[in-house]
Amino acid sequence: MTGLRLHEKKTLMALRMLNGRASVDDVVERSGLAHAAVMRAALTLSERNLVKIHEQKWRVAILNEEGEHYAQYGLPERRLLRALLRLGGEAVVDEAAQEAGLNAGMVPLALGWLRRKNWGVIKGKKCMLTVGTEPSIGVDEKLLATIFEKRSVKVEDLDEDLKRALETLRKRNLVEIEEKVYRELELTEEGWRIAKKGLEITEEVTQLTPELIVSGRWRNVKLTKFDVTAPVSAIYPGKMHPLQQIIQRAREIFLEMGFTEIRGPLVETAFWNFDALFQPQDHPAREMMDTFYLAYPQTGRLPSKRLVEAVAKTHEDGWVTGSKGWRYKWSGEEAKKLVLRTHTTAETIKYLATHRKPPIKVFSVDRVYRNEQVTYKHLAEFHQIEGIIMDKRVTLRDLMGTLKTFYTKFGIEKIEFWPSYFPYTEPSAQAVAYHPKLKRWIELCGMGMFRPEVLAPMGIKYPVLAWGGGLERLAMIELGLDDIRMLYANNVGWLRRTPLCQ
Ligand code: PHE
Repeated sequence: MTGLRLHEKKTLMALRMLNGRASVDDVVERSGLAHAAVMRAALTLSERNLVKIHEQKWRVAILNEEGEHYAQYGLPERRLLRALLRLGGEAVVDEAAQEAGLNAGMVPLALGWLRRKNWGVIKGKKCMLTVGTEPSIGVDEKLLATIFEKRSVKVEDLDEDLKRALETLRKRNLVEIEEKVYRELELTEEGWRIAKKGLEITEEVTQLTPELIVSGRWRNVKLTKFDVTAPVSAIYPGKMHPLQQIIQRAREIFLEMGFTEIRGPLVETAFWNFDALFQPQDHPAREMMDTFYLAYPQTGRLPSKRLVEAVAKTHEDGWVTGSKGWRYKWSGEEAKKLVLRTHTTAETIKYLATHRKPPIKVFSVDRVYRNEQVTYKHLAEFHQIEGIIMDKRVTLRDLMGTLKTFYTKFGIEKIEFWPSYFPYTEPSAQAVAYHPKLKRWIELCGMGMFRPEVLAPMGIKYPVLAWGGGLERLAMIELGLDDIRMLYANNVGWLRRTPLCQ
């Protein structure tokens, strides 16, 4: 018969010598093959109708550690009973427990079962026997001893009484039930025909080495055929968390596009997080609801007086910008407050304060915090992708093009730009993407051109394109998730199943 591989031939021959039917273990022994090799060969042979696989399943009961302990030292109620007998039939519970050598955790169990087995009663702190002599060994204890002695017993072999006792022991968490499979292989008629003819067993080469190729010996040896579609057990190598992979990818794409990375501290003054971005001090986003304020230390340091005064005046009356400002009295104390940054725009504006010459292309991928209810689409701690472009003549179109390129490189096809509002940009927009699984548009980032009220105090004379948005939202689309919390749940099954991204 052609097309049979070495292991299959050896399995057939072993079965022939074993009179056509044998357990897998016997075939293993006779053929000298590994167990897994025989099983694999048996599967192929049964597909070709040369071997029939007989399978028998049964359950065995085995003791766990606690069960073994009780099998050796007796069930706690039996020990308590014997102790009470020694103490004359009644005693204070603590005393009886000590006499029985039971630790505190076992006492309630022992008392409970003493009562259930009608061996004794508890009255206040005392415990007294209702039996005068020691009751004989129960079915549960007999079974415990049998399993201990034989290591395991077949559940199917037990009679009704013992089965009931087994159930009790299982509920007491002393035994475990395991499934066993017994397999026998049998030659079919066709299998016999082939095996009887005798099969030529030539050793096969499983690995093509450079030596075989160079010497030309590969022409004469028999190379093993491999079924590359055969099922194998899954292997789960260690790998980077999917979210970290996406963070890395975002970085790489920005770098590819000519951006430089900037990073800043997680704790910022309200000045950088809000004031420098022309967000009035009574802006709702500043309220405790959204922002985490630090309790200790409560305040940080403000930048140069010149810059602080320019920001203050812009808030109050527009300063030199032509704007009317927000028309209120700006407070330095409010601006000094420390917050967990609510967005990474705090870092881009801070960067602009010290970098005024075009061209500038910087980005950050970093953590931000918001005091929000955690839901399927909101987290209180998450990452933002942020960036700015400053040049002599850039417009919102450039920003739309840049973002379209960025998200397309990420594999997101359906992007649209919708009008929006931010206190620090004009015009303002948002980039949205269609989430195929959620069947709706989700916001990718806010974007716009920094207002003169933001730029003038920093001394910037050129247009600045800015954007910032959630990274986890992007991850949701990428990974096909409908619940953002999965990214932080450490669900091992999901982590294993999620492939490495390219
Ligand atoms: N900071 C905004 C946010 O957190 C996003 C944004 C950044 C909007 C820059 C416009 C310009 O949602």
